[in-house]
Amino acid sequence: MQNRMMITGAGSGLGREIALRWAREGWQLALSDVSEPGLAQTLQLVREAGGDGFTQRCDVRDYSQLTALAQACEEKLGGIDIIVNNAGVASGGFFSELSLEDWDWQIAINLMGVVKGCKAFLSLLERSQGKIVNIASMAALMQGPAMSNYNVAKAGVVALSESLLSELKQQEIGVHVVCPSFFQTNLLDSFRGPTPAIKAQVGKLLEGSAISAADIADYIYQEIAKGEFMILPHEQGRMAWALKQKNPQLLYDEMATMAEKMRAKSKQG
Ligand SMILES: NC(=O)c1ccc[n+]([C@@H]2O[C@H](COP(=O)([O-])OP(=O)(O)OC[C@H]3O[C@@H](n4cnc5c(N)ncnc54)[C@H](O)[C@@H]3O)[C@@H](O)[C@H]2O)c1
Repeated sequence: MQNRMMITGAGSGLGREIALRWAREGWQLALSDVSEPGLAQTLQLVREAGGDGFTQRCDVRDYSQLTALAQACEEKLGGIDIIVNNAGVASGGFFSELSLEDWDWQIAINLMGVVKGCKAFLSLLERSQGKIVNIASMAALMQGPAMSNYNVAKAGVVALSESLLSELKQQEIGVHVVCPSFFQTNLLDSFRGPTPAIKAQVGKLLEGSAISAADIADYIYQEIAKGEFMILPHEQGRMAWALKQKNPQLLYDEMATMAEKMRAKSKQG
């Protein structure tokens, strides 16, 4: 029976809602984050929802903290069945204004954090014939304007997931990648970028989502049960992706118009 899940970034937003969705099925959760108060709150909610588990502070930039977390899963839960590489931060700004430090920071967390998570847990997953769930974004597929570093990090997560899907098939390790559009969480708190006006625009997009983090967690649960590899929780996202596959130029033109509008807005302040 599979019933042990590890989640990074479990102290808030989508990570917390994924923990609660699986807790309702009685799973054991290994909850990790850089925010210890957030983790304590998630664990309490997990217990109220019918699950249990433990928390451990873990910065996904530090491989030794991820291997220590894998060790804790071995000692406390006897292994792991699903890992969810969810921890992430927001960023934005036009390419001409983003610094190389902005790039390093974004890639270190949103891309290398996922690479390190997969690597640290690989031997445990081989033993359980478990699953990897990587949280990417629609940004990986659409490449919206004024967020090139975020787009590249998330496209890397999709490419890594596709690579692992074929490489790990023989070991019977399942791989899933999730690409949500914007939804309301605390993601904006982590925003880093050179242009304050872009942060305000991203904030509006988060607020405008028709579905919540809890809806997305439930959708992920259903799609994993069906064995779906690429999970697109927003209906609009599914439509946009289908359109781009059919007629990419249409989407490139749309993005160029959006870039022009965003540049004009950010100049207004
Ligand atoms: N909210 C959206 O609109 C949206 C859209 C698409 C994808 N996503 C992705 O969903 C994932 C979850 O984000 P969220 O929206 O729930 O945001 P959130 O800020 O509410 O949660 C992210 C969590 O990650 C943690 N975190 C940040 N840096 C970390 C690090 N170095 N090591 C460990 N933990 C770290 C934070 O402390 C926080 O608890 C992210 O990967 C994000 O890119 C979010």
